[in-house]
Amino acid sequence: MGRSCFPRCGFARIIAWLQLVLGILVIVVSISSLFRFYSAGFFVHNEDICRHFYGPKDVYQGFDINDRIAEVLTTIENLHKKLEMNLQQMEKSKTRLEYKNYLEVEVLRPVYSAYTALKQLRLPKIGNGTVKEESLIDTFTTEEIRKYIAPKENRIGKINFYGTEKIYNTIGHACILMKKELEEYMDYDIGSYCKDDWNLAQKLMVNGCDPLPRRRCLTRASKVYQKPYPINESLWKLPDDRNVRWGNYQCRNFGCLSGKNPKRGYTKCIGCFEMEKEKLKWVTNTSLQVDFLIRDVLAIKPGQIRIGLDYGVGTGTFAARMRELNVTIVSTALNLGAPFNEIIALRGLIPLYATLNQRLPFFDNTMDLIHTTGFLDGWIDLLLMDFIIFDWDRVLRPGGLLWIDRFFCNKKDMEDYTYMFQQLRYKKHKWVIAPKSQHQVYLSAVLEKPPRAI
Ligand SMILES: *[C@@H]1O[C@H](CO)[C@@H](O)[C@H](O)[C@H]1NC(C)=O
Ligand SMILES: *[C@@H]1O[C@H](CO)[C@@H](O)[C@H](O)[C@H]1NC(C)=O
Ligand SMILES: *[C@@H]1O[C@H](CO)[C@@H](O)[C@H](O)[C@H]1NC(C)=O
Ligand SMILES: *[C@@H]1O[C@H](CO)[C@@H](O)[C@H](O)[C@H]1NC(C)=O
Repeated sequence: MGRSCFPRCGFARIIAWLQLVLGILVIVVSISSLFRFYSAGFFVHNEDICRHFYGPKDVYQGFDINDRIAEVLTTIENLHKKLEMNLQQMEKSKTRLEYKNYLEVEVLRPVYSAYTALKQLRLPKIGNGTVKEESLIDTFTTEEIRKYIAPKENRIGKINFYGTEKIYNTIGHACILMKKELEEYMDYDIGSYCKDDWNLAQKLMVNGCDPLPRRRCLTRASKVYQKPYPINESLWKLPDDRNVRWGNYQCRNFGCLSGKNPKRGYTKCIGCFEMEKEKLKWVTNTSLQVDFLIRDVLAIKPGQIRIGLDYGVGTGTFAARMRELNVTIVSTALNLGAPFNEIIALRGLIPLYATLNQRLPFFDNTMDLIHTTGFLDGWIDLLLMDFIIFDWDRVLRPGGLLWIDRFFCNKKDMEDYTYMFQQLRYKKHKWVIAPKSQHQVYLSAVLEKPPRAI
């Protein structure tokens, strides 16, 4: 390239290259999206897909998208190298600094990012075995994530007691949308202490990266962990402040979480950290018709309610009361601004650290009771609600009770939600709708799952 020619014809040439690159990119992207349609079965029959993916020979002979992409990748790579060389030459002529910056920022970087994007687009080699895993694994660059999600084959190549050849460690599919955060989460030295980052983990979980990958680092505990109170005291006593790591909360002790404090840092279940108030719940009459007493609900099925799930946000008070009545309740809990999991556990109850995203980790027809309060309100999408209700139905046993406690929404939405709750044709033991405010209403109900002998 003639030096004298710079910068004008250099510039023209670069623009020409750029156009060429963009042209190629457009073609490749169209071909590959067409190919995606093919593989999704829009144009071909199932057998064709199977043959394509699993057959010994490629069905589409002479058309291998991987080869095409590899070709383009090489072209772009070469272009990138040439451009870079030009840039180096240009560095010597200082008068053209602006031009150099332009080239670097406006041309080289886009070309390179197009190159990497295209590289990710490349389909995994169709081989014998780990076809599908590879594409997910290749989404991540961090070694520890890749190691975690790679399927682990049994030793000595045998079938294990699950009847499988390998064990898959799973992560939520939305993890790929939060690649950066997940990589940050998985960035640690194996065997050393983890960062104090449960809030990052929870952020990933509530955004759909759920389940999270396991980690091989040591979780930090509070500095001076005190032994928990004995069970005859722990149920109704605020735990020792020293048993919680407060670093990621606005508050630094349980007293600060009181509902009267405007800067407590959480918005759900206000007042839940005041045991005097908690002691009144579900055992004393209130002025609201929608507040049922535990005694009355258990009286519907005397002696038959033994295990259940409390699906909501709280400090475990429902489970504590039920424990006194010899009913074992697991309470879902997320640490939304306050240590809900810790307080439930320190009270001697079982917190289930679960988000709304997931199928409940219980088997079909097993639970005597599902109680839900303070979590699912009128904000919730109807389709999501539908999936959740059917999941509750799955885990409830025949004759089990669904206790909807103070569900609230806008008046105009109540019809949609009552349809949801009624669609399963449960027997209505209790059903009360009462005004909450001018525009909002409460619904409380106790419903019984019918036998499903079919
Ligand atoms: C599977 O692929 C590997 C290389 O990736 C090869 O060594 C092996 O022979 C192949 N096995 C079969 C059954 O084709
Ligand atoms: C709790 O039980 C222990 C013995 O198990 C007893 O020493 C203690 O006094 C009890 N505490 C209360 C508040 O009843
Ligand atoms: C609550 O009110 C009912 C009548 O509505 C009464 O029978 C019951 O004894 C009251 N319970 C308590 C704990 O005050
Ligand atoms: C719970 O079980 C204990 C021990 O079996 C028993 O002494 C107690 O009376 C039971 N409580 C209730 C409310 O049934």
